[in-house]
Parts: sequence; structure tokens; C-alpha cells
Amino acid sequence: MPAEVAKPHADLLTWEQAVADGAWGNTELAALAAQFGTPSYVYAADMITAACQHYQQCAGEIGADLHYAMKSNGNLAVLQLIKKAGLGFDAASVLELERCAAIDIRSARTIVTGPGKSVELLERAMRNGVREIIADGSEELERISVLNHGPTKITVGVRVNPDIDSKTHPHIATGHGASKFGVNMAQAQKMCMQIATTPQLRLGSLSAHIGSQISSCEPYVETARLLLKLRDELVSAGVVPKQIDLGGGFGIGDNVSRLDHDVFAELVAWLKKNCPDQQFAFQPGRALVGRAGILLTKVEYRKGRHIIVDAGMTELIRPALYGSKHGVAKLGMSPAPEGKMDVVGPVCENTDYLAQNIELDANPGDLLAIFDAGAYGSVMMSNYNGRLRCCEVMLDDNQARLVRRRETVADVLAAETAPLGG
Ligand code: LLP
Repeated sequence: MPAEVAKPHADLLTWEQAVADGAWGNTELAALAAQFGTPSYVYAADMITAACQHYQQCAGEIGADLHYAMKSNGNLAVLQLIKKAGLGFDAASVLELERCAAIDIRSARTIVTGPGKSVELLERAMRNGVREIIADGSEELERISVLNHGPTKITVGVRVNPDIDSKTHPHIATGHGASKFGVNMAQAQKMCMQIATTPQLRLGSLSAHIGSQISSCEPYVETARLLLKLRDELVSAGVVPKQIDLGGGFGIGDNVSRLDHDVFAELVAWLKKNCPDQQFAFQPGRALVGRAGILLTKVEYRKGRHIIVDAGMTELIRPALYGSKHGVAKLGMSPAPEGKMDVVGPVCENTDYLAQNIELDANPGDLLAIFDAGAYGSVMMSNYNGRLRCCEVMLDDNQARLVRRRETVADVLAAETAPLGG
């Protein structure tokens, strides 16, 4: 890691410290739980801003663009902080574009990525003049060409599948040839030529997103080399892509084994040294918001080795889905080891756990914080088992603001009808 790149969050309060102290700055976390109830997601604005600044500082080294992958956390208050920090946005659906519109993020700051784009999404993106649409295959490109009636040119990039091992959990590895994402090099070349020769289209990025929670630089370097080769071939054929977009996926480690290096800073240093003249872009999600959030939950029961809490896989599905390990600590006290315990939720599934085999002494009424829950936490909540989505709170300037209220029974039932009557 280059010496001049600052470590993120160096002078900031961490959630681990705050939970041990029982407070974030002047905000008492127990009072916050009493005010807003549990479970709740709690985010620290300073940490989001600091992560953005760190990524911008690194990206600035090579003049690269950053588009925040808002699927990791699309709460409007989070988006507002990221907008204020000056980043662009990566949206994957109509709702995500509407989220941008709701807080006046200019469409020209937004790219549209993701597979299987609907007609509605593409029409919405074109009408609003997004910065770029990344086509995930020739079928999508065909649809874009048919839908685009001009007169303004649409910038279209190509999602390339580099067929590499991104060395992460198989559920979130997207850069291997068997995955549904992107197209191979030969198909990508063809698509680029087609875009370049279609009058209403302009060639955008060669884009690859190889997976998530990636903990080393090598898979990115391998991808960059392949995309640079493709770029050279295109340039020889007289076609120049706007930039190379290496996607997101930068891992934050987990509370149990934190990354001891900064994958993004390392990658930027490599790119700066090896391809100084190339324009790059990135789509980080988790790295900007993951550490900034905790899930605050209350212990309901203690039953043998099970600490049963009021949050479960319906609030944070990552442990159930990917076996991910989130640190857990009891509020206000460093955890006193008490044999191996499992922290489980109230959902009727064996996979309904938040942590397994951890040393924790907690009793009914105690408050626990589940760390590193700012990304792919609230956005993946569900109503399974008749659970109601919990609230989200933002700590900013020593003030706690409710930034999403707790869902109610009426909210859920309002969307349904019983045709046969009551
Ligand atoms: N760009 C594209 C096209 C993506 O599909 C994603 C994430 C990102 C960027 C941002 O990746 P990040 O920097 O956040 O890793 N639910 C899983 C993660 C799924 C990621 C989906 N795509 C989890 O909880 O680990």
C-alpha cells in the first residue's frame, strides 16, 4: 500500500469502541434503542463520509470515476451523504433510479448496471439521460437499440465476464465463465464494434464486476490485464472505449478477521504504475457503507447455548446465505467469555442465526450490536414469517434521526387484496 494513502477512518470512533462505551459520541445507544425500539439499523454518517473521502482520495490518484453501488444500501439518507461527498451512482432498477430522483441526484451522475434490464428500466434510463447503460449481453444491446429513437446518443458499455477466479464465496463470485453475468471477450468485442457503428449509440466502458467481498488485489489485476488487452484489440480496429470499469467488490473483511490491507488502494497503485494513460471507473458498494452500520438487537431469551434475540435472518440474511461472520458485542461492556454460544433469531429456520460459536455472555434485556451490517443488511430485509422490516437510524452531528420508520402491519396488508371478501 502506498505510504501517501491514508488508512480509512483513522481518527474516527469505531462501532466497536462505541459499543464498548455504550455511546456514539454524545449519543447513548441504550437510549436510542429505547426511543426507536429494536431491532434497528444504526448508521454513523461520519464513517460513511470518511469512507467516501478515502475512496475519492485513492481514485483521485488516477483520475478515476466512482459510482456508488446503491444496491448495497439505498436508504435516502445514505444516498444524500454520498451525493454530498461528490460520488456518482450505480443503479440497477427503476426504484433505484427513483431513489436518485427523490434526492435530486442528476441522471448524468448515474450509470445503470445489472443483468436482465427490463424495457421499463431502459426506457426510464434513456428518457432521463443517464451517464451510461452497461449492457449485459447482445440481447440487451438489441433491446437498447430498438428502444432508442434518438435524437440524443446513448452511451452504452459492455459487461465483460473475464472468466477468472475472484477468490470469494461462490454465491458472490460473478467473474467466472459459468456465471450468468456479462459476455466473454469475443462476444464483448463484437458488441463494442456494433455499438460503435450504430448511429444513436456511443461506446462507453469495458466493464467487469467480478464479485463481492474480495480480499485480494490479484483478481482485479488479472481482470484489468484482460480488459486492457481487449481495449488494445478494439483500438487497433479503430474503436476506442470510453474507459475501463473494474466494478466493485472491495472487501471490508469481517469483524472476526479484518483485512489488514486496503485492496482498493493497492489496486489503484498498480494501475497508476502499469497503465498511467488509461481512464478507469469503479462501482464500490459495501466498502463505503458496510462498516458504518450496526444492527441493534435485544436479547429475548437464553436457552442452553442459544441466545435468542429479536432480530434474525429477516433483518440480516448474510450469515444464513453466505455463512458470513459478523462480530457481536454486548452494549456497554466488553463481552465476558462464557463458553461457545449461538446468537439466533425468532424465525422458523435452522439457518436463522446471526453468529455461531462465539464467546458471549448475554441475558434477556441486554442489547447486542451486530457489526459491519451497513451493506446488504437493510436492503435484504424480508417479511418472511410475518416479520416487519425494522427501522433505520442515522447518527449525524450527535443527533439521531429516524431515516426509515419501522414497517407496520397496515403497510404490508395495504398491498394485498382478498378477492373473496372477509
Ligand atoms: N457493481 C455491480 C454490477 C454489482 O452487481 C455490485 C454488487 C456492485 C457493483 C457492488 O459490489 P460491492 O462493492 O458492494 O461488493 N448480497 C451480497 C453481495 C452481493 C453483491 C451484488 N452486486 C452480500 O451480502 O455479500
